[in-house]
Amino acid sequence: MSDDEPDPTRPGARRPRVAVVFGGRSAEHAISCITAASVLASIDRSAYDVVPVGITTDGRWVLGVDDPGRLQITDGRLPQVDPSGAEVILSTRGGTRDLTILEPGEQPRALGEVDVVLPLLHGPYGEDGSIQGMLELSAVPYVGSGIFASAACMDKHYMKVLLAGHGLPVGAYTVIRPGELAADPGAVRESVASLGYPVFVKPARAGSSYGVSRVDDPDELDAAVAHAEQFDPKVLVEAMVVGRELECAVLGGLDGEPQASVVGEVVVSGDHAFYDFDAKYLNESDLELVIPADVPADVDDRVRNLALEAFHVLGCEGLARVDFFYTETGSVVVNEINTMPGFTPRSMYPALWAASGMDYPALVDRLLRLALARPTGLR
Ligand SMILES: Nc1ncnc2c1ncn2[C@@H]1O[C@H](COP(=O)(O)OP(=O)(O)O)[C@@H](O)[C@H]1O
Ligand SMILES: [Mg+2]
Repeated sequence: MSDDEPDPTRPGARRPRVAVVFGGRSAEHAISCITAASVLASIDRSAYDVVPVGITTDGRWVLGVDDPGRLQITDGRLPQVDPSGAEVILSTRGGTRDLTILEPGEQPRALGEVDVVLPLLHGPYGEDGSIQGMLELSAVPYVGSGIFASAACMDKHYMKVLLAGHGLPVGAYTVIRPGELAADPGAVRESVASLGYPVFVKPARAGSSYGVSRVDDPDELDAAVAHAEQFDPKVLVEAMVVGRELECAVLGGLDGEPQASVVGEVVVSGDHAFYDFDAKYLNESDLELVIPADVPADVDDRVRNLALEAFHVLGCEGLARVDFFYTETGSVVVNEINTMPGFTPRSMYPALWAASGMDYPALVDRLLRLALARPTGLR
C-alpha cells in the first residue's frame, strides 16, 4: 500500500464509510439480497463503517436493516428488500457524498458522507453500467467495473463481439433483435438452423439463468424466444457447446496487476437440462463446485490466461468471474463474464479465492481498498 492510499486500519483515522447497496429492479433482486447478507456478516466493522442501502423492486433506495438473517433464503422463500425503510438519496451533483434521509413529513436529514459504494447488484440496473453511471455523477468511488465494462459484459452479444474482435474464442451465435422473429420468421429460423440444433436461447442482458432455455426442436423456438423476451427484448441464440463448465475468478491487484484464481468446475447432477436457476440457488444437493477443477495443466493455464485477457479486453476493474466451456475435443471457449458475480461464501467467486489463499473477509477488504484507491471520472 502506498502512503497516499487510505488505510482503514490506521489508528485514529476515521473509518471509511461503505454503503452496501443491494436488491434492485432486476430479476436477480433476491440473489443480490443473499449476497448482501454474506457481505454484511463478514465485513470488518473495526475497519469500516457500514450503511446498508436496499433498492426496492420498484427502484426506491431505502435504509436497510443491518441484519443478515433477514436477507437469506428461508424455507425456500427468496428474500427481498423491505420497502418500509426510510428513503435515502445520494446526490448526483458531484462534490458532495452525503446520503440524505427523506421521511414523510420531516425535513431531509443528512446521514453523513459515503466514502465508497459496494454495489452488490446483479443484472440490469445494477451490473450493467446504470448504477455505475449514477455513481460517476455523484463522484463517489465504487467497487468493480466502470460504466463501459459493466454494460459490455452485461450484454452477451456485445461481449462476444469484443472478445472475438480481440481473437478470444467464443461459440457460434445469432442475435434476434426486438420484433425480428415476427417480422421475418423465415430468415430468423434459417439463421438459427444454420447453427444446428440443439441451441440455447437466452436474453442478451440477464443472469442467474433467467430466461435461458435449451431448444432441441425448431418447433420449440418461438416459445423459447418469447420466454427470453420476458427478460430482454433482445435475444441471443447460441449453438450448444457440449462440454464441461469451468470458471475462473479475476481480482484487481493493489499494484494494478489483476490476478487469476485457481480454476473451478461446476458439476450439475439431478434433473436439470443445464446449470439452471434451481441448480444455482435452490437444489443445493444437485450442485458441486469442484475446486480446483480436475483438468490437464495446459487447460488450467489456458483458462487462467484467457480469463485475464478477457478482463483486460473488456476493460474490467476490481473483479469479474469468467466462465468457460471445455469441450471433449480439448477446446476452451468463453461463455460469459460477470462483473458482479454471486458472492455468498458458497458462491464460486469467493470459493475460488478461498482456494487460492484469500478468505472471504480479506477478499471484501481488497475490493474496498481497490475502490478507495481509484477516483471516479476520466483520470
Ligand atoms: N451455448 C451453450 N451451450 C451449452 N450450454 C449452455 C450454452 N449457453 C448456456 N448454457 C447453459 O446455460 C447456463 C446459463 O447460461 P449463461 O449464458 O451462463 O447465462 P447466465 O448469465 O444466466 O448465467 C450455462 O451455465 C450453461 O449450463
Ligand atoms: Mg452463467
